[in-house]
Amino acid sequence: MSERNFAGMKNLDVVDYLQTRRSLSVKYMDDIAPSDAEIETLLKTAARVPDHGKLFPWHFVVFKGDARREAGDILRAAYLAEDADASEAKLDLEAERFMRAPLVVMVVSRMRRGKHPLWEQFLSAGALCQNMLIAANALGYGANWLTEWYCYNPIFREKIGLDARDNIAGFVYIGKPTAQPEGRDRPNMAHIVTHWQPNIQLNKGDAEYDKDKFDFPQAKIIGVGDV
Ligand SMILES: Cc1cc2nc3c(=O)[nH]c(=O)nc-3n(C[C@H](O)[C@H](O)[C@H](O)COP(=O)(O)O)c2cc1C
Repeated sequence: MSERNFAGMKNLDVVDYLQTRRSLSVKYMDDIAPSDAEIETLLKTAARVPDHGKLFPWHFVVFKGDARREAGDILRAAYLAEDADASEAKLDLEAERFMRAPLVVMVVSRMRRGKHPLWEQFLSAGALCQNMLIAANALGYGANWLTEWYCYNPIFREKIGLDARDNIAGFVYIGKPTAQPEGRDRPNMAHIVTHWQPNIQLNKGDAEYDKDKFDFPQAKIIGVGDV
């Protein structure tokens, strides 16, 4: 494909799509896998994201076909570390996680050395996941970006081959839809947008969206001090 300069292109179909797009729960995915050519397109499209410094600070691990079941041994061992008393039935269930969709792509944020802040490197991996959701939809598939417990499990991370420079941005589950998703609440833009003027109070959404009874979650990312 030739490299065309689309920056600034007007396309109302894209806006309409972005305003109506939705994730598809893995409950509603068929077992029809994208072809190898489609997978290549998905990955290549996903990788075309803003990335400060051209560091390509991410990589993919693709689970398809039998590899999804084979990874189940690792999920099982990892879950045992979460819950030493887990029943066999529960372990079987956890081992089947990747079987819920015909294609699962693990998107890994990989820290690169240099002057570009890690925060920006992490953000680029998030953009990549979103790009993959969009590309999957454009190819006629539903997609869901999940992290779930294994994303942060040290045994899973190690046995699958990650090291201290890797943070899992998520698993993008992809499959043909068997049902259409319902709508989902979206923010009231007035609560989160400020058209700045001097001395104005910013609309940060705290009054509307803070869940006061909770503390802030613990940071689970691996930082530069860890590598
Ligand atoms: C980083 C990240 C991790 C997520 N992990 C989960 C998860 O583990 N389980 C879950 O039910 N939803 C998870 N979600 C939410 C879904 O991916 C999705 O955002 C939600 O279902 C609605 O998305 P939509 O706006 O695409 O419809 C996660 C979202 C993000 C951004």
